[in-house]
Amino acid sequence: MKIFIDTANLEKIREVNSWGILDGVTTNPSLIAKENTDFEALVGEICKIVNGPISAEVMSVKASDMVVEARKLAAINKNVVIKVPMTEEGLKATKMLSDEGIPVNMTLVFSAAQALLACKAGAKYISPFVGRFDDVGEDGMRLISEIMDILDSYDFDTEVIVASIRHPIHVTQAARMGAHIATIPYDVLKKMFNHPLTDIGIKRFQDDWAKVPKK
Ligand code: G3P
Repeated sequence: MKIFIDTANLEKIREVNSWGILDGVTTNPSLIAKENTDFEALVGEICKIVNGPISAEVMSVKASDMVVEARKLAAINKNVVIKVPMTEEGLKATKMLSDEGIPVNMTLVFSAAQALLACKAGAKYISPFVGRFDDVGEDGMRLISEIMDILDSYDFDTEVIVASIRHPIHVTQAARMGAHIATIPYDVLKKMFNHPLTDIGIKRFQDDWAKVPKK
C-alpha cells in the first residue's frame, strides 16, 4: 500500500519524506488555508520535495471553470493531481480532464455508488473520507470494503485513497482490505511508530548492554 501524507505543511512533508516511506501528498482547501501562503507556489514547493502524486483541489463549481483551474494547477508540475469534488459538475470535469490526460482525484466520496460513478468518469484516484463518515455514525471502513469489492470485479484504472484517517487502525484496516493508498495526517503517522513494548524492549536492551564489560 502506498502512503501519502495529508498536509500542506512543508516542514512535516520534509520530515516524513526523510523516513523513506512517503509516496505522495494530498492537500485540501482547509489544509492550504492553515499555511497562510500562496497556493500555487506552495504546491510547487511540495512537488520539489516529494516525487509522487501531489493532490491540489479546484474550487470552482461549474465543470468548465474547474477545467480551467485544473489546467493551471497541472501546469505547475507533472506530478500534480487535480482534486475534484463528487458532484454532477465534478463528474463532467473529471471526464474532460481525464480525456486530456490530467489525473483526477475525486474527493468527498461517501458511498459506493459515488465511487462507481467516479471510476466511470475516468478518475485516477477516489478519496472516500472514512473518519468523517464514522463521525456521523456510519462505518467508514465498511465503505472501503464495498468500494474494493467493486474495483475487484472490473478493470477500472482507479486507485482508492483512504482519506480522513483518524488513527493507525484505519491504516492497517485499509491495508488488510487491499486499498491502494492511505493518506495519513502527520500525527497519525507519528503514532504508527509507537508501541509500549518496543520502548520497554529498547530500555531493557540498553540497560543490559551497559552491564557488558567493554574493552
Ligand atoms: O484531505 C482529505 C481528508 O483526508 C480530510 O480529512 O481529517 O479533514 O476529515 P479530515
